[in-house]
Amino acid sequence: MTLEIAGVTVRFGGVTPLDDVSVTFEDGVGGIIGPNGAGKTTLFNVLSGFALPVAGTVTLGGMSLLALAPHRRAGWGLRRTFQQEQVIRSLTVWDNVRLGADHTGASIDEVQAALDYVGLVDRDRPGTHLTMLERRLVELARCVIGEPRLVLLDEPAAGLDPEESGRLLGLIRDIPERFGALVLLVDHDMDLVRAACGTVAVLDFGKLIAFGETAEVLASPAVRQAYLGAQA
Ligand SMILES: Nc1ncnc2c1ncn2[C@@H]1O[C@H](COP(=O)(O)OP(=O)(O)O)[C@@H](O)[C@H]1O
Ligand SMILES: [Mg+2]
Repeated sequence: MTLEIAGVTVRFGGVTPLDDVSVTFEDGVGGIIGPNGAGKTTLFNVLSGFALPVAGTVTLGGMSLLALAPHRRAGWGLRRTFQQEQVIRSLTVWDNVRLGADHTGASIDEVQAALDYVGLVDRDRPGTHLTMLERRLVELARCVIGEPRLVLLDEPAAGLDPEESGRLLGLIRDIPERFGALVLLVDHDMDLVRAACGTVAVLDFGKLIAFGETAEVLASPAVRQAYLGAQA
């Protein structure tokens, strides 16, 4: 399924966090990178309906995503995580994932399948007792219940060590085939992006400055200069 973002512009007062962004992602896992403030989260907000673009279109498999009311997008198959993880401390692992079923029409079997997929065995542990990795896994589990079509992961590896990121990588790479969804990954962990994403888009000050095959994009001098602050 192809996600086509065309001419998307977002304005907040005098700020233009997204400026005429056009990019197309095919099946699999696509990456979005760029410095802080580049507009990555704003793009996710457009896709999930938290931000309304002043111009542009977004289609997935030919259907207009922006024409779908934001509150209907979860039922349609949109899933996302937030930079600040949203695990509820007073609820168990099971209830944290099951909560997502209310918006997505997922079955109890799908909740269990999602926990099996991320490998969280003790479903009765409360959110307060979870490590950062386990919280990220709870969120990932929530993203795959109820026939997801588009999964948006906003810095899922933030706060994880390399070994933990490696575990996340294996899971993220499995999503397209196992659950049938297109995945977009925003992260600053370049090892994760390089290993997970077939293609990557680079945003800088709200503009798309590069897009293409991941290894090629990450090696490009313009991207290295904008993103890594490296001497080109
Ligand atoms: N609700 C908002 N109101 C005003 N400015 C915003 C809002 N959300 C984001 N911005 C601004 O838009 C720009 C892009 O932010 P963001 O999309 O969060 O970047 P990133 O996720 O790439 O770090 C920043 O300059 C930020 O301050
Ligand atoms: Mg962000």
